[in-house]
Amino acid sequence: MSLVPKHIKNLSPYKPGKTIDSVKKKYKLNKIIKLASNENPLGPSSKSISAVLNILKNTHRYPDASGLELREKLAIKFNGKLHNVILGSGSEGIMSSIMRTFLRENDELISAENSFIGFRVLANASGKKVNWIPKKDYKYDLESIVDKINQNTKIIYIANPDNPTGTYINKNEFDSFMDRVPHRVLVILDEAYFEYAENIEDYPDSMLYRYDNVITLRTFSKVYGLAGFRVGYGFAHHELINNLMKVKLPFEPSSISQKAAIAALDDIAHLDETIKLNNQEMDIMIYNLNELNIDFIISVGNFITIVFDCRDNVINLVQCLLENGIIVRDLHGFGLPHCIRVTIGTKQENKLFINKTREYFNS
Ligand SMILES: Cc1ncc(COP(=O)(O)O)c(C=O)c1O
Repeated sequence: MSLVPKHIKNLSPYKPGKTIDSVKKKYKLNKIIKLASNENPLGPSSKSISAVLNILKNTHRYPDASGLELREKLAIKFNGKLHNVILGSGSEGIMSSIMRTFLRENDELISAENSFIGFRVLANASGKKVNWIPKKDYKYDLESIVDKINQNTKIIYIANPDNPTGTYINKNEFDSFMDRVPHRVLVILDEAYFEYAENIEDYPDSMLYRYDNVITLRTFSKVYGLAGFRVGYGFAHHELINNLMKVKLPFEPSSISQKAAIAALDDIAHLDETIKLNNQEMDIMIYNLNELNIDFIISVGNFITIVFDCRDNVINLVQCLLENGIIVRDLHGFGLPHCIRVTIGTKQENKLFINKTREYFNS
């Protein structure tokens, strides 16, 4: 159809992970364990649920378009100013606004292969040239990324920690990278898994650097357990934020999402419990994978990528787990066809995943 631009026609549609309902229906199961989308296995904070229930009766009103209360809270939390904070429908919503705000006709983008698929979808949909740089040992190859910068480069995207590999770039790597990136290039630092990594000694918390050409993206979808609400936030120089504000959808995030996020920030106990569970269960997962002689990539997120020597094992194990009501992520779509990604769940969920995996390899 001539109405559709060529670069859109050539896109492959995004294939999301399988939903709980679709797996229940297909395999006639009552209970599903979803370890496929790096969500918080404990669910949302009870404070978020109460806050949302309280404002349901006011949902005939539009949300506060400036997102004032949540932005103020975030500015205080991170020692920033209100004019440095933006909200969006998830951090992906902000990524989408960034593309629409800053990209001009001949601009190009750089990122890594096998990184966060959401960015890949947006970058390809922009119709701009994107240089996808291969990773080295499942990590961003920052040297090669910098070497690829040319006069048209406008945006570099880095997820730290990265999804789906769970690797991170350290302070030294980040420093020498930023020394070589020209100020006219915007760096998107996607820190969706920041809270899981912030206590690692050499993890660079980008909020402490505040470069004028860096926009930090974070989310309420992971550690705060609010993926369904779609709330993300970004921190950057006020001029960048100012211009992003002109382009973003005026009423994102919704009023219930803003309230859920505000309440989540007040529930430190829920946050601590989430991190504690993840740390404990990650250790147990690693112990069990080692025992089963299964290769994996060390991860600082709330998920782990398991590496097989052939695609067949991925297809067969994913299928076997599905038939037993366990959804994990086949990483074929991420360009890692020999890998699966498993979200760290509750103790019980992880145990079932390991037991079924053991059974598969013993059979
Ligand atoms: C690296 C990374 N960035 C962003 C997101 C999406 O976050 P949000 O739900 O805030 O759009 C994800 C979700 O999986 C992710 O892994």
